Amino acid sequence: PASYTLAGSYGFCYGVKKAVHKAYELAEALQTGQKCYMYGAVIHNKQVVNNLTANGFILVDKADAVAPGATVLIRAHGITGEELGRLRDKNCKVIDETCGYVRFIQNKIAKYHNAGYQIILAGHRGHPEIVSEISFAENNVIVVDSLAELKTLNLANLPTVLLAQTTFNHQEFTKISNFLTLHLEQLLIFDTICRATVDRQLATKELASTKDVMIVIGDRSSSNTKRLVDLSAEVCGETYLIESAADMAELKFKGVLAAKQVGVAASASAPDSIITEVIRIMNENTEVTKNQEALEETAKN
Ligand code: F3S
Repeated sequence: PASYTLAGSYGFCYGVKKAVHKAYELAEALQTGQKCYMYGAVIHNKQVVNNLTANGFILVDKADAVAPGATVLIRAHGITGEELGRLRDKNCKVIDETCGYVRFIQNKIAKYHNAGYQIILAGHRGHPEIVSEISFAENNVIVVDSLAELKTLNLANLPTVLLAQTTFNHQEFTKISNFLTLHLEQLLIFDTICRATVDRQLATKELASTKDVMIVIGDRSSSNTKRLVDLSAEVCGETYLIESAADMAELKFKGVLAAKQVGVAASASAPDSIITEVIRIMNENTEVTKNQEALEETAKN
């Protein structure tokens, strides 16, 4: 391209950075042949998870698969209260890296469930974070992923609490809270969308609205990434999801990098190594680079 610009906010969020750092610390401390467990992918990124499993981690998705007394790392999205109990019953050493923002939601859900409130959680049913959070109310939580879905339900006019999955779309959450404010007499709203997510969403959309082509770095299985791609595609018809340097090579081959103005964004689960590689390829294929400071910063790391 003639130029490319990095989104003002991109890459690993606080919670993921902390959990991944802990995972590498644990892997390093393992003696040769020793293993430890990762309950659910520590991050929605195949390359990082493969690297960790090659360095002593066993990836499991249930407490039953963990050997008694073993060390188990809990991912940033958290796990269910029941499963945590099972690991403790097995005398496992639980390294709980549940992100503080997710824990906040778990605690609020438990508190208001015990107080008899109706609980509505704006989020994507089946996502590990949601599965973990609703377990703290014995699954007595209404999960909706849009205002349209909420409107199909027959809600009781009970004291209600509304919360959101940390990666939920901010605009949709506002629509849901406005609707509920009009229809329920007693409503408590906790905007629990993580700031890191909002910042990346706003920065991506703003950047995409001025570019011919947008490249979003992240893993296909990550909800963060999907959200960024959707937001970008709303304002920039040519939006591409990149998981690895190989995907970049394909874009180059297709001539996509010849577009005039390219924007680059990265989700909260995109590791620095992939971001750096994409930037290197962009530098090679660009006449002028913008956001020089950001680039230098990335190079330093
Ligand atoms: Fe935590 Fe927000 Fe990341 S909830 S895991 S800091 S996206």
